Amino acid sequence: MTRRKVLLLIGGFVALHGTAFSETATFSPQKDNTLYEDPAGALSNGQGTYLFAGKTASGVLRRGLIAFDLISIPTNATITGASLSMFLSLTNSSLSPVSVSLSKLSSDWGEGASNAGAPGGSGAQAAIGDATWLHKFYSGSFWLSAGGDFAAVPTAVTEVSAANTTYVWSGQGLVSDVQSWVSNPVTNQGWIVRGNEIDSKTAQRFNSRENSSNPPQLTVTYQLSGPTPTPTSTASASPTPASSPAALANFSTRVKAGAGNQVVIAGFIVEGSASKKVLIRVAGPSLAQFGIASPLKNPRLELHDSNSLIAINDDWRTTQLGGLVTANQVTEIQNSGLAPNDSLESVVIGTLNPGSYTVIAQGADGGSGVAIVELYDLSPNSGSALVNLSARGLVGIGDDVMIGGFILVTQPTKVVIRAIGPSLGTWGLPGALANPQLELRDANGVIASNDDWQTSQLGGVIVADQVAEIQSYNLAPNDPAESAIVASLLPGSYTIIVRGVNNTAGQALVEVYTPSAVSSAFSVALPILPVLSPTSVDSTTDYYDITMRVGTKQIVPGKLTAIWGYNGMYPGPTIKARRGRRTVVRQLNNLEESISVHLHGGHTPPESDGHPTDLVGPGGSKTYIYPNNQAAANLWYHDHAVDVTGRHVYMGLAGFYLISDDLEDSLPLPKGESDIALLIQDRLFNSDGSLNYPLTDNTIRTGVTGDTVLVNGAIQPYLQVGRRKVRFRILNGSNARIYKLALSTADSFIQIGSDGGLLSEPAIRSVVSLAPGERIDVVIDFTKYPLGTSAVLKNQDTSATPSIPEIMRFDVVRDGTDDSSVPALLSPIVRLPESSATVTRTFTLNQTFQSGRNDIWTINGQLYDPARLDAAPQLDATEIWTFQNNSGQAHPMHIHDIAWQIIDTNGVPPPAGDDGMKDTFLVPGGGGVVRVIGRFADYLGGYVSHCHILEHEDHAMMINFAVQP
Ligand code: C2O
Ligand code: CU
Ligand code: CU
Repeated sequence: MTRRKVLLLIGGFVALHGTAFSETATFSPQKDNTLYEDPAGALSNGQGTYLFAGKTASGVLRRGLIAFDLISIPTNATITGASLSMFLSLTNSSLSPVSVSLSKLSSDWGEGASNAGAPGGSGAQAAIGDATWLHKFYSGSFWLSAGGDFAAVPTAVTEVSAANTTYVWSGQGLVSDVQSWVSNPVTNQGWIVRGNEIDSKTAQRFNSRENSSNPPQLTVTYQLSGPTPTPTSTASASPTPASSPAALANFSTRVKAGAGNQVVIAGFIVEGSASKKVLIRVAGPSLAQFGIASPLKNPRLELHDSNSLIAINDDWRTTQLGGLVTANQVTEIQNSGLAPNDSLESVVIGTLNPGSYTVIAQGADGGSGVAIVELYDLSPNSGSALVNLSARGLVGIGDDVMIGGFILVTQPTKVVIRAIGPSLGTWGLPGALANPQLELRDANGVIASNDDWQTSQLGGVIVADQVAEIQSYNLAPNDPAESAIVASLLPGSYTIIVRGVNNTAGQALVEVYTPSAVSSAFSVALPILPVLSPTSVDSTTDYYDITMRVGTKQIVPGKLTAIWGYNGMYPGPTIKARRGRRTVVRQLNNLEESISVHLHGGHTPPESDGHPTDLVGPGGSKTYIYPNNQAAANLWYHDHAVDVTGRHVYMGLAGFYLISDDLEDSLPLPKGESDIALLIQDRLFNSDGSLNYPLTDNTIRTGVTGDTVLVNGAIQPYLQVGRRKVRFRILNGSNARIYKLALSTADSFIQIGSDGGLLSEPAIRSVVSLAPGERIDVVIDFTKYPLGTSAVLKNQDTSATPSIPEIMRFDVVRDGTDDSSVPALLSPIVRLPESSATVTRTFTLNQTFQSGRNDIWTINGQLYDPARLDAAPQLDATEIWTFQNNSGQAHPMHIHDIAWQIIDTNGVPPPAGDDGMKDTFLVPGGGGVVRVIGRFADYLGGYVSHCHILEHEDHAMMINFAVQP
């Protein structure tokens, strides 16, 4: 899948020199020590021969400190490599391996005369000038935070296991730290060494600098070159480089914020069909540690959409509620690893629908100074991308140039970068930079420059005139003095510098576009779900064996997602069954949790129905017998384990079960390759590609909805079709999201079936609502479209956040021969008259506050109790069930065992298409009433009925009923 990934500025852009000579130097620590967690803060080990990291058997922490004097490296050197080695001389870990991290210290600290000897794990009385858990320098100078002041995001992590081994920490994080210390020696406070801080008995002992054997050593390689000046001594302006959890899509700009109109303005666009979660922060005071002379003292931040102000923050530790900020964000900011170093700095987290956004940063007190605005993509794998990043600010002289940074990941990408000045005047902005010039740099130096876009400057990555190409993207600047560069860039970090020609100052705008990129939607083909072959067949029965197990699947490009699958597959394999022939499925549970397999829509004896408490434990198996004495219909099988169905289905336990019969075969409907099953589900992914199932009091209320829609397990796929009719059997297998399906061409679906099988006659519908658990069977007629037409399957429902307006796309790519048709009569349905019902039952749906829990769900005021029988219909009785919804939210109510007919919803008979056989019915919120009628044929025994929003079902919107003789 191609998708644009534009992103992130960050540390390590300082390397701006031509080639010259490379040097390697090794350093012994200048000082080291150990912080021993104790309430008095009186323990240390300044002169000891060991340092410690991790948690002791008695549950207290140890953290090592280590620093190196790098003053012998010239300040203009470009660091190209750095690695720290430490010798692990003792481990008491019950766990192996254990992660040991280095983080950049932000305060100075001391090594005094204390010496804990050997083994040294308990520490010694701190001496004057020693660092302790509470002190930077014992006994008068304290850390801001007990346990040391250091960057939230570690510089490097290495796993250690066996003792008497040397372990090495290296990578871009170390290079970046060392670079910042070389460029700006006063910021060099060294690293804190931390081990496993969760599990007891994980402390690790490393040799210290005082040890005569194997003391720690830092190796640095660097380059020196001629006098090329760096544009600023402070290009690595951000303290949180590569190891950010959101390193896929971040952008930052550092410019000077002035008073009045001279604020920093950054703009960006969320493009695609899904919303995007972003973190925006503005740093000011913490830039001082990079030697920036006049940082903005107290930055505040505003986020605007194209209409209005939607979020505001000043001082990130105090969340300002309002707009899209509806809850305190401090913990989320901390958990993101992106908490600012200074409490005066500001952060907003928001989930943004596709559209244009503007960030405004300014001094809270009207002050001016240099600020950095950063944009982080917290949902890099959603069906949307950050594009067209821009920032406007004051370009000054000397070091006060405008610096933009971004990172490209995954693939070579074409970017267009523009520096805009004079044309800002046409927007009424005074003091525009008259003649901006532009440089693009990678880690090794300048790779492209431009001043005046109509004259390409060849050199570096620019090998041909660019004027026509800039124009072809509609990105030609309005003013000839403005500058632009087109470049195809490999993945990596890049820096943009905007200056005024001849050292002039003024307001400028820097922009980054990715014109060639394709949005992530519709870039993978729809997977056609495989049909499972029986293990054996006899004259009456098809036998299947399925193993439920963990599997992996590439869903998010370049990532493997662990799923739970029938035969390890997501979605599960399709089972094809025939009316009147038995299907026997032996399900072996190789998962680590108990399961129950339910055939949704099946008219199945209770012992094979997959009752929520009919559990099969890990390693166990159960044979389910399905008689298939029912009309052709689109069923599905899914997990139904009591209380945890939502998570189990979310992990992947769902598949189609399609019953055919002679009547359906006799109809001239599209068949074979033109008969396609579509399973629609929405999901959330973590940035490593794993599934994220956020079960909270809030999602128990709303249901878990994702920001990414999958069809047959693929994100927003496309399907190439011929000019012909195609049948789609569509299942909403989402946990909670309701879809309102429509075609972008404004044509209608020809609906031929619903939950329980074919309709009596086709229904022409332009919009069809599909709640979780419901199925529709439709024909789409592509004959009328010219070749090259695309029709998007849209979702007009916007009730869930984020809304997902596009599901998949049909591309008409070939002519098709079509001998299929949709007959006027499908399968006769006899409507049950209300008068045939002997019993009417009412089920009231509501929310409750019980057992200290908010927002759990009740039927007739009660939570599900597996031991309680809630209804006892007679065999063969026809009953009317009335669902009365007194909650504010709609509930798709599902009844096991038999198929029903909807009598009415809020007194209105169902529209054509919803008037067939149904097992799941959406009951509108706020007093909505749905009445259904059905006959309890064939089987005695216990079943359930429940809301098919799976988080509602699990908490605890379900009843038992048992059919009586
Ligand atoms: Cu589809 Cu009782 O469930
Ligand atoms: Cu069911
Ligand atoms: Cu519900």
